[in-house]
Amino acid sequence: MIIDTFAKRRSQYALGRQHAYGQAQIEQIVRDAVRQAPSPFNCQSARVVVLFAGEHERLWAIVKSALAAIVDRESVQLSFDKIDTSFAAGIGTVLFFEDKTVIQSMQRQWPQYAENFPTWSEQSSGMAQFAVWTALAEADLGASLQHYNPLIDEAVRAQWALPHSWSLRAQMPFGSNQGPLPEKAFMKDTERFRSFG
Ligand SMILES: Cc1cc2nc3c(=O)[nH]c(=O)nc-3n(C[C@H](O)[C@H](O)[C@H](O)COP(=O)(O)O)c2cc1C
Repeated sequence: MIIDTFAKRRSQYALGRQHAYGQAQIEQIVRDAVRQAPSPFNCQSARVVVLFAGEHERLWAIVKSALAAIVDRESVQLSFDKIDTSFAAGIGTVLFFEDKTVIQSMQRQWPQYAENFPTWSEQSSGMAQFAVWTALAEADLGASLQHYNPLIDEAVRAQWALPHSWSLRAQMPFGSNQGPLPEKAFMKDTERFRSFG
């Protein structure tokens, strides 16, 4: 059941590199998942970069130096420890962007929906993120969702020569599952759902 795979998708912070996949296989999983994610009018505004090995480590070095510039020394060490053990220790990181030129062109094409497109862009990025996260989980790869944007936007753009129109929305470090996951708490259905008819 697809719901079992949804349940398998969790925030995994204990990442490692013990896995059976080649880089090309992981890239394919990410591409297929993003391709199948919906977007308004099928505008396909999601842009994705997958970083492996040294490039993945470079991203987390960028995050560290950005944090070091704004956070006090004591707290920065805690953040560095988390980055080293939970994110950089994995196989790679998926970067999710939205292409602003696509959104602007949709706004011109559909002026009656112009105000909706920025929200729809965020929603479709979330759908692409969920699709990738779930597809990685199905492949027994753990991942979490991080948001060091906008702090790292400029450095990321410069490092990988990405277009200015690509707006960084999320970072998803992934790797082998190196630890158990805490049980997840759910609120009462009666508080959350209503059905009529
Ligand atoms: C829009 C969104 C933003 C999130 N941002 C972060 C984040 O910045 N850092 C983080 O560690 N987890 C982040 N999460 C993960 C949630 O904390 C997590 O999904 C939630 O606690 C449920 O746990 P689960 O992923 O194990 O099911 C985010 C999740 C969503 C949907």
